[in-house]
Amino acid sequence: MTEKLEELNISRRASRMRASEIRELLKLLDRPGMISFAGGIPDPALFNQAAYREAYAEALSDDGRSLQYSTTEGHPQLRRWIADYMRERGVACDESHILITHGSQQALDLIGKLLIDPGSEVITLAPTYLGALQSFSAYEPEYYPVRFQNGVAETNVTSARVLYLVPDFANPTGVTLSLEDRKAALELARRTDSVIVEDAAYTELRFEGERVPLIAALDIAEAGSIDESRTLFCGTFSKTLAPGLRVGWICGPTALIQKLTLIKQASDLHTSTINQDVTYRVASKHFNETVEKALVVYKSRREAMLRALDAYAPEGMSWSTPSGGLFVWVTLPAQLDAARMLEIAVERNFAFVPGGAFYPDGSGNNHLRLSYSLLPDDLIDQGIKGLCDLVREQLA
Ligand SMILES: Cc1ncc(COP(=O)(O)O)c(C=O)c1O
Repeated sequence: MTEKLEELNISRRASRMRASEIRELLKLLDRPGMISFAGGIPDPALFNQAAYREAYAEALSDDGRSLQYSTTEGHPQLRRWIADYMRERGVACDESHILITHGSQQALDLIGKLLIDPGSEVITLAPTYLGALQSFSAYEPEYYPVRFQNGVAETNVTSARVLYLVPDFANPTGVTLSLEDRKAALELARRTDSVIVEDAAYTELRFEGERVPLIAALDIAEAGSIDESRTLFCGTFSKTLAPGLRVGWICGPTALIQKLTLIKQASDLHTSTINQDVTYRVASKHFNETVEKALVVYKSRREAMLRALDAYAPEGMSWSTPSGGLFVWVTLPAQLDAARMLEIAVERNFAFVPGGAFYPDGSGNNHLRLSYSLLPDDLIDQGIKGLCDLVREQLA
């Protein structure tokens, strides 16, 4: 198959896309008895099935409108609901600043198409969200890492197209950028003339502490209006309501939203009419209550994971302590290779994601990502014990 493809005249961008060995290994995770910290997906027990049954029934009694084509910009009431949501979080906007997308993953792809030419500079944290690297890489950028430290952004690039950040409870690290670091990000974007892509996939999943202002809100406050700002905020219902709906959005300055709308039109015409309609019905009735229920569950699982790490981890192993989201990021002694350890872990029926996948330059092999989202406390304890035993053996 691979050889045949290479004979074909496919594009340079497609020929560079490779299935990752790790993803192939992670396909084994459906095996019975597997304790998987790999997924990072929401717990399906938290999906409000009754609300969806009701919402789909209502949507389907609407003269077929929810089964018809609809506008690229998206469902008008849903856009208004999102504009209200954004305003409540300090982003002065209206529905004309909102484009509904097929999840925030599509938002990243559309933004890549909008902003990145071959060789364009993209600034990211290293590590960062693998899916963003995959979306952007199709447009052949050069990646430049940035480090934030006490309100200073350290990078060696002087101009860039994109500054991509997951400021709250990041995937993969669980780390949240402080207010000072967000201001530094804005300053860096101005200095390098780049557009900030604020990926807010986990922002609602805060277990404790005060919300840190959104970068989009800080940007608008300084710029004077959203149309003068340079942030494209990517939101999603995947981690709050349900990912299978595939409904997310981009909020940003009109000029960029209009271009993104044209790009989306060429790509898929619009996001599923019925899923937008159902998302609106469920979000407008149940959003806060659904998020609150999820927070109780994820917070308790986060605690179980941190407790187990405290109890079993050998010297030299350290980890992040997220105040929200779904991930803990583990750093192993430099000589260990998490990708090799995963092969042994899978034989022993537990799994994680090796850290190298999240670095644009393929480094980071002594890190790994753990998610606590799907497992009850006793299995978290058992799996973390297995992981710590494996680390100890590797160090011996
Ligand atoms: C940081 C981040 N951004 C975006 C996404 C994509 O989410 P969706 O397309 O379901 O909205 C994910 C999914 O895991 C994510 O972790």
